Amino acid sequence: MTEFIPNAIDKVEINEGNVTWRTPSNIALVKYWGKEGVQIPKNPSISFTLHNCATITTLEYQKKETASDAFEFEFYFEGKIKDSFKPKIESFFKRIEEFCPYLKAYKFVIKSENTFPHSSGIASSASGMGALAMCVMHLEKEIYPEISEDYFYKKASFLARLGSGSASRSIKGKLVVWGESDAIPESSNLYGIPFPFEVHDNFKEYCDTILLVDKGQKQVSSTVGHNLMIDHPYAERRFQQANENLAKISEILQNGDLKSFIKLVEEEALALHAMMLTSTPTFILMKPNTLEIINRIWNYRNETDSSICFTLDAGANVHVLYPKSEEASVQAFIQNELAAFCEKEQYIHDFVGNGSEKL
Ligand code: PMV
Repeated sequence: MTEFIPNAIDKVEINEGNVTWRTPSNIALVKYWGKEGVQIPKNPSISFTLHNCATITTLEYQKKETASDAFEFEFYFEGKIKDSFKPKIESFFKRIEEFCPYLKAYKFVIKSENTFPHSSGIASSASGMGALAMCVMHLEKEIYPEISEDYFYKKASFLARLGSGSASRSIKGKLVVWGESDAIPESSNLYGIPFPFEVHDNFKEYCDTILLVDKGQKQVSSTVGHNLMIDHPYAERRFQQANENLAKISEILQNGDLKSFIKLVEEEALALHAMMLTSTPTFILMKPNTLEIINRIWNYRNETDSSICFTLDAGANVHVLYPKSEEASVQAFIQNELAAFCEKEQYIHDFVGNGSEKL
């Protein structure tokens, strides 16, 4: 990890500036659930990077006139000062300080907004922490212009991971692997890397429509959720399954086998929920409409030649995944049959994107 500690410098020369990054959310195909130490995953995971669901964050920085031993920042969310978010950012800064020793030399104003509705049940921690990490890395690049592009993105993912594990997968690439896997060269527990193999045409353009079944606050925070895997009766077997599935999906993404993709992705979603069903305390995060939607997706697949499938986050919303070639037919099916099971008939069409962008 020392590779991410910059050389000490006597005095930072950059006085002020600002930068804006747009960082998308991502949807895991092989799920991360269970961690140890400081955000080290118990198993490797892989996700599609999304495009439309994103956080846009501006970081304004100004060198302090007199040095102080505190993080000084204001935080605005969607145009309004939001002090309730400050403790999360403060603890993120504390966690990354060792790797970003220049943070206390500045005063910051952080302005953030999401492109998706705030109370949609869509987790914004991946895109939010990702966007903030990108902004911090911009400042680092100003101070240390010699850092390479490769280092810039690796460290951005490394910092994002310290904010929220899945945020490490929102930095760069359409498919991102985070966590050590024998099947993926150069994979790391410390940061995400773009999937290193040539992806089959079947998976180059993929769509994800997020069905908003329950727009309420998450019932289980990620912190609580990951902790449920400590002393969980099936934890070891689950971590093994995720490792096996990562190796399998790596082959599938290269050979284009849609049937195996569907089987594996749905198995992963249900395994994640099975872990919560069988933990102490137990959580049932699906709602009746989640099950109704799953059954209708299965019926539709049986009746047509569709390669539609679903995945789930740690909540009731359903991510409907389908190849771009089926966009028109699947979107008509969603509108005609599935929208009725969403809160206020709301859903968000998204598709696979390339990762963070500087605006
Ligand atoms: O990044 P966290 O700590 O919010 O955990 C995310 C966990 C899942 O979204 C359920 C799975 C995943 O791999 O993204």
